[in-house]
Amino acid sequence: MMRTHMCGELRPEHAGQEVSVCGWVASRREHGQNLAFVDVRDHTGIVQCVVDGAHQLRSEFVVRVTGIVRDRPEGTHNPALATGDIEVGDCTVEILSEAEPPPFPIGDRVDADEILRLRHRYVDLRRPVMQRNLRLRATVSSAIRRSMEEQGFVEVETPTLIASTPEGARDFVVPSRLQPGSFYALPQSPQLFKQLLMVGGVDRYYQLARCLRDEDLRADRQFEFTQLDAEMSFADQSDVIGVISQTVVAAIRAAGREVDDAIPTMSWREAQDRFGSDKPDVRFGMELVELTEAVAGTGFRAFQAPCVKGIRVPGEASMGRARLDRLTDQAKAAGGGGLVWLKMEGEGLESPVAKFLSAEEKAAIPKALGAEPGDLLLLAAGERLIVDRVLGQLRLELGRPPVNEGGLNLLWVTEFPLFEGLDSEGRPMPAHHPFTMPHPEDLDRLDSDPLSVRSQAYDLVLNGWELGSGSVRIHRPDIQQRIFSFLGIEPEQAQARFGFLLDAFRHGAPPHAGFAFGIDRLVALLAGEENIREVIAFPKTQSGVDPLTGAPNPIDARQLTELGLRTLPRPT
Ligand code: AMO
Repeated sequence: MMRTHMCGELRPEHAGQEVSVCGWVASRREHGQNLAFVDVRDHTGIVQCVVDGAHQLRSEFVVRVTGIVRDRPEGTHNPALATGDIEVGDCTVEILSEAEPPPFPIGDRVDADEILRLRHRYVDLRRPVMQRNLRLRATVSSAIRRSMEEQGFVEVETPTLIASTPEGARDFVVPSRLQPGSFYALPQSPQLFKQLLMVGGVDRYYQLARCLRDEDLRADRQFEFTQLDAEMSFADQSDVIGVISQTVVAAIRAAGREVDDAIPTMSWREAQDRFGSDKPDVRFGMELVELTEAVAGTGFRAFQAPCVKGIRVPGEASMGRARLDRLTDQAKAAGGGGLVWLKMEGEGLESPVAKFLSAEEKAAIPKALGAEPGDLLLLAAGERLIVDRVLGQLRLELGRPPVNEGGLNLLWVTEFPLFEGLDSEGRPMPAHHPFTMPHPEDLDRLDSDPLSVRSQAYDLVLNGWELGSGSVRIHRPDIQQRIFSFLGIEPEQAQARFGFLLDAFRHGAPPHAGFAFGIDRLVALLAGEENIREVIAFPKTQSGVDPLTGAPNPIDARQLTELGLRTLPRPT
């Protein structure tokens, strides 16, 4: 046996025992007369070892230390360390591996740049916070598996070399050697396979599924990510919401956090109206307030619009001009015509547009917003969709608490519209994916007023992050065909791309519904991390590169020929 104990588990009750620990040299401090304090680290923590003649030991050397546990001398206890009451004395040290000086210090805080950290990810992973994050992730994943299995779901693996599954991103493709010129797509999700599993009588399926999407990377997006993916037969929205709620709550509790059993629900319309977002962060107020009525007869041109709304920014009346200009630019970038600001100065109201507002309006606007002296009021006018978006973004910019504050606020958002708008050719764009069942009450408006048709889609939101989404699926080939043609997917094209699904539906498809949520996102929020990279062992950089392995790399000419490929010169 190489070791008798882990570094972090030694306590005063071990005093007098001979122990062996293995790990990395975290630090070495000379202690005169040839003695040194050597801190040895493994994933459980650090223990101080008193070593005679430690000259050759350097940071990050891998060692096995054998010695006797003893109480630390009076006055040298370290309450910041779990093992801070003891040390290991009379040590013999065996060097198991030498190490180059670490590229950056190994502590919870790291200032090293991202590329350096990822190039030496194996060193970065030794940092206690990374160890905690990876282990938290494993805890969450196993709680998810347990909960799904308790609820009668079976794990089924679906393929990764597939034909394209549309989820709204670009596909990663893999060339076929045996059929040069043909390509597999990597799954953006197991969506179509899980629906086929329902036709196949699996009844309740789940998978911790790796999904791949070629989309621009952000704090909450990687090319590769993991979903809890689930589907159930003879079930509707409330069944899915019940199952997923139970699983998410179990996962959060397994992570040692508190959360209510009952997750509130809000309609998409209400989320837009109150928060200007389909994934409202309900940890803080600053809700959007309707002012259209209050300024109905206004002489101010900018407010003669279909919708006028505002938000109250408490205590920000002293905001400087430069910041207000930046907010106005942001409003314009979000599609708004501009931004009107009013400052509540004492009894009065200061604003560049004050002279265009009537006395009634100057009273009604602050009243509707519940403004108090010292507040800043931001108002936008225009199409409702745009006004909500502009103020929703400003609300987040000005009020959003850091990721690890304000507890965990789960929220179901339901009654999404089936289409989120029209594309440049005037065709409706699906808000979810094209396999989502329209709301039964709205089916007859599909042709006359498609944008008013609700879907049976629902999202789960956590602290303003979209954790997951799902829907009741279309299980009738005629309705699916109709939706495809609505989306401009011609029957031949639909047959070519999704014929297998339509065929399957003709062989007895049960009504079914499902959901998927992002495990990376859930774990990041539980770990208090702003970026999902921090909970993924080997993530990509912002530009989609892995600095450790060098991926992506060019492949050699022989391999290209074998695959029937030729590369074009890089565009300059
Ligand atoms: P959707 O596309 O909404 O739905 O994805 C579900 C959840 O997966 C996570 N996610 C991501 N996480 C990290 N990086 C990404 N690039 C990324 N893209 C998505 C999010 C998201 O909410 N098949 C449907 C689900 C269904 O209808 O059952 C689907 O994949 O947390």
